[in-house]
Amino acid sequence: MIIFNNGKYKSILAAESGELAEIAQTVQKDKDFRPHFHITPLTGLMNDPNGLIFDGEKYHLFYQWFPFDAIHGMKHWKHLITKDFQHYQSADDLIPCELFESHGCYSGGALKVDDKLAMFYTGNTRRPSDNQRVPYQNLAIFDLDGKLLSKRPLIENAPEGYTEHVRDPKPYFTENGKIRFICGAQRENLTGTAIIFEMDNLEDTPRLLGELSLPAFDNTNVFMWECPDLLKLGDKDVFIWSPQGKDREAHQFQNNYHATYAVGKLTDLTFEAKYIGELDQGFDFYAPQTFGGLDNKTHSVLFAWIGLPDLTYPTDKFKWHSALTLPRELRLEGTKIYQRPIAKTYENLTALSTLHLDGKAEIADLDRAYVKFEANNRAFNLTFFQNEKGQSLRLSYENGLVCLDRNQSEQTELMEKFDSKRFCEMENLQTVEIFFDHSIVEIFFNHGEKAMTSRFFIANRSNIITTQHPLNLTFGYLPTIHFC
Ligand code: FRU
Repeated sequence: MIIFNNGKYKSILAAESGELAEIAQTVQKDKDFRPHFHITPLTGLMNDPNGLIFDGEKYHLFYQWFPFDAIHGMKHWKHLITKDFQHYQSADDLIPCELFESHGCYSGGALKVDDKLAMFYTGNTRRPSDNQRVPYQNLAIFDLDGKLLSKRPLIENAPEGYTEHVRDPKPYFTENGKIRFICGAQRENLTGTAIIFEMDNLEDTPRLLGELSLPAFDNTNVFMWECPDLLKLGDKDVFIWSPQGKDREAHQFQNNYHATYAVGKLTDLTFEAKYIGELDQGFDFYAPQTFGGLDNKTHSVLFAWIGLPDLTYPTDKFKWHSALTLPRELRLEGTKIYQRPIAKTYENLTALSTLHLDGKAEIADLDRAYVKFEANNRAFNLTFFQNEKGQSLRLSYENGLVCLDRNQSEQTELMEKFDSKRFCEMENLQTVEIFFDHSIVEIFFNHGEKAMTSRFFIANRSNIITTQHPLNLTFGYLPTIHFC
């Protein structure tokens, strides 16, 4: 075991006594933005959800984590176990401590094999002689209680024809019981793709089968695919991934990077897509992963990172960064994914009340409320929150277009760089559901037809809501999540 401690490549094992407690105190100074019912790091930066797996009784989830600061430093896998997505227990984390993960345990996925949990992940390493990145694909075995049993490297280096950007293995079983995993990759000609490996069992050495062929996807300008995930929903196959470099468009793919999905039929390595779309049209949504695999039934649960690569947030000064979405249930309507918080979220809502809003009202704890209304396909224009700086968040709908506007709220330079409005085309907008959680807003249209997930930062806010057209609103509240 090696205790890495080299600048930002510092493992949690190298923490000095009291160091993390001191960082936690800085986090506690943030009185405005810490969410109540979303998973956030205790300290430091989190990004992708990793290793999502249901063990028959409990859900295991991990997230990419750098404990020491709000920067992308040495990545650990922070491990959480839950039965209800409400109470979370800690279990063994994946901590970089071997040469095959010397610069971080990067993203990956999980498979339950008999009574073990197999975590496939990327070992990020850098060659000491010239600092060249060298990716490993690794395997860590956990028992069902979340105890780490072993770790080993499976593949050293990128296969021929690919650059050093090969990562994020997500495993699944084939129909005849083989283990396959799909990795995001960059070809030597600097275009993005995904490659698939196969193993007979967990002791085997993986063999490269080839690239996932996805002829329907326009790969123009795409230089890397990250976080691929293959799953089944009903009788269709689904491919979810985060392609980088795709051109931004006026009303979709508006961020610097996007999470995308394809629905169709996977035959061996070929995915014939009937539909390809963006998964979420808010400001901050990336690297989603599901508990699903190709053996899945009619629905699957997804978590995503409420954040994007290369973004800074106003909470960075408090030494914490980013959150995970609420767990979302995915299902298909035809060839489109519908996504909503899992049913348990709705069961947990308390203090449901209704209000006929005409003009302006103050709503108790609006900043951690669930808000629902029927738009009846009519225009609306809502302003949420208010402070002495005149800051607020706006959501409007007109002529088939939703607009979420955070122009009048606090933004870092990097947030501003990618514009302050996000749009979502909705031909027939009926139901609007909003989950506010202090600096997070998750919005769902028509019971999950489209979603917009974003951060917003309004300090010292009052819980005022203003409407330009009279509306009947329903409010409710979610309990705080518990970490034991
Ligand atoms: C996506 C990503 C992955 C990588 C991980 C590192 O956000 O860049 O491709 O494995 O984050 O934290």
